Amino acid sequence: MGKFVIQGGGKIEGEIDVQGAKNAVLPILAATILNGGKNVIYNCPDLRDVSMTIAVLKNLGCRVKRQNKVLVVESDQISDCKIPEELMRQMRSSIIFLGAIIARCKKAVVSMPGGCEIGNRPIDLHLKALRKLGVDITEAHGYINCSAENLHGDNIQLDFPSVGATENIMLAACMAEGTTVITNAAREPEIVDLEQFLNRQGAKISGGGTDVIRIEGVKKLYGVEHTIIPDRIVSATYLAAAAATGGSVILRNTDASHMGAILAALREMGCRIYTEKARIILTAPAGRLKSIEKITTMPYPGFPTDIQSPFMSLCCIADGTTMFVENIFENRYQHVEELVRMGADIKVDGRVAVIQGVRRLSGARVVAKELRGGAALVVAGLAADGITEIENVKYIDRGYETIEIYLSACGAAIKREE
Ligand code: UD1
Repeated sequence: MGKFVIQGGGKIEGEIDVQGAKNAVLPILAATILNGGKNVIYNCPDLRDVSMTIAVLKNLGCRVKRQNKVLVVESDQISDCKIPEELMRQMRSSIIFLGAIIARCKKAVVSMPGGCEIGNRPIDLHLKALRKLGVDITEAHGYINCSAENLHGDNIQLDFPSVGATENIMLAACMAEGTTVITNAAREPEIVDLEQFLNRQGAKISGGGTDVIRIEGVKKLYGVEHTIIPDRIVSATYLAAAAATGGSVILRNTDASHMGAILAALREMGCRIYTEKARIILTAPAGRLKSIEKITTMPYPGFPTDIQSPFMSLCCIADGTTMFVENIFENRYQHVEELVRMGADIKVDGRVAVIQGVRRLSGARVVAKELRGGAALVVAGLAADGITEIENVKYIDRGYETIEIYLSACGAAIKREE
C-alpha cells in the first residue's frame, strides 16, 4: 500500500487550483440516473470515490465516459436496480443511490452499509423518510429491499439535519406524486448544488441552503450539463497546510462564501485572509499561530466535522490550549494517536479533545486510518521537523486529487512511494 514521505519544515508557498467537491459530485452522479438522458458534468475530481461511483453507474446500466474533468453519463438504458455488496462495501456513500434508483425503477436493492472508519453512520433517517414517501422497505440477509409503486410527497421532519438523508429525500421526491416538504433539512452547499442540478433537469425544488426544502414532483426530467462546486474541505486543507508551515497560498477556483466558519477560525489563529471572487489568499502570521479557545463541529454553517482533524494539526503547534468538541461522528479522533506520536500534547475524553500547543512536532512513522484524519497527518508532517512517513494513503486518495503534486508545486518536499 502506498505511503507519503514528507521532509517537513519548508513553507507552503504558491497557487493551487482547487478540485471539484467530492461531496457534491457523488449525489449529482446518482441524480444522473433519474432523467434517462445525456448528462455532462464538468469539474469532476479524479478520486477513488468518483471511480467507485462510476462503477455503480455502469453496474446499473449507464454508459459513462470520462475525459479529464468532464464526465458524460448516459442513463437511458438502466438495466438493474441493485447495488452489489462489493460496491457498497467500497463506498458507504453509495447509499445515496437508494432514492435515485427507487425514483427511476420503482424498486431498489442495496446491501446494508457496514460499520465504517469514522463511526456508526446509521441510515435510519434515510429509511424512515423513504417510508413516508410510500416506499415499502424490508431488510433481510444484509440487504435492503425497497419497492414503491406509488411514490408520493409528504411532510418530513428530520430529527437531525443529515446531509445524506436530505439528498436521498430530494432524489426520491422530485418525481413523486405531489409535494414533499423537508423540515430541519441539511443546509450544506453540496445540497444547493444538487438542487441546482435537479432543477436544471426540470425538477421543482426550492429552499436548498435553508432548513426547509420544498419539492414539487414532476413527471419527467431531462439530461443536462452542470459544473460541480469547488471543494470547501480541500480548500480548507490547503489553507491549513500554508498556515501550519508559516507560508502563504493563493487558492483559485474556490468559494469563500462556503467557508465562513473555517476562515473565521484561521483569522482567529492569526492568519491574514483576503477573499475575492473564486480566490482566497492566506498569509500565515510571522510568529506562532494562536490557539482558539474552542472548536465545535456542527452541521453547516457551523464548523465542519470534515475539517476538524486538519485543524487539530494546526492547534498542535499553536500557542496555547484549544478544545475540540466533535458533535457529528463519534469515532473521529483516530488521528490523535498518530499526532501524539509526532510529539503533540492531546487528551481525549469522549467527544472532547484538549490540545496543549507545542513549539514543534517531530517527524515520525504514522498511519492514516481514514480520509480527513489522513489529511491531518499531511498537514502535521509538512510542519514537523524531520521526516514523516504516512502509510495507508489510499484513504487520503478518496478525497484529495494528487495532494502530493499540488503541495510539491508549492514547495513541499513530499513524495509518494508504492
Ligand atoms: C456527509 C458527508 C461527510 C460529512 C457529513 C457531515 C458525503 C458523501 N459525506 O456524510 O463527508 O462528514 O456529511 O457533514 O456527502 N445520522 C443518523 N441517521 C441517519 C443519517 C445520519 O443518525 O440516517 C447521523 C450520523 O450518525 C451523524 C450525523 O447524523 O452523527 C450526520 O450524518 P450525515 O449528515 O448524514 O452525514 P453523511 O451524509 O453520512
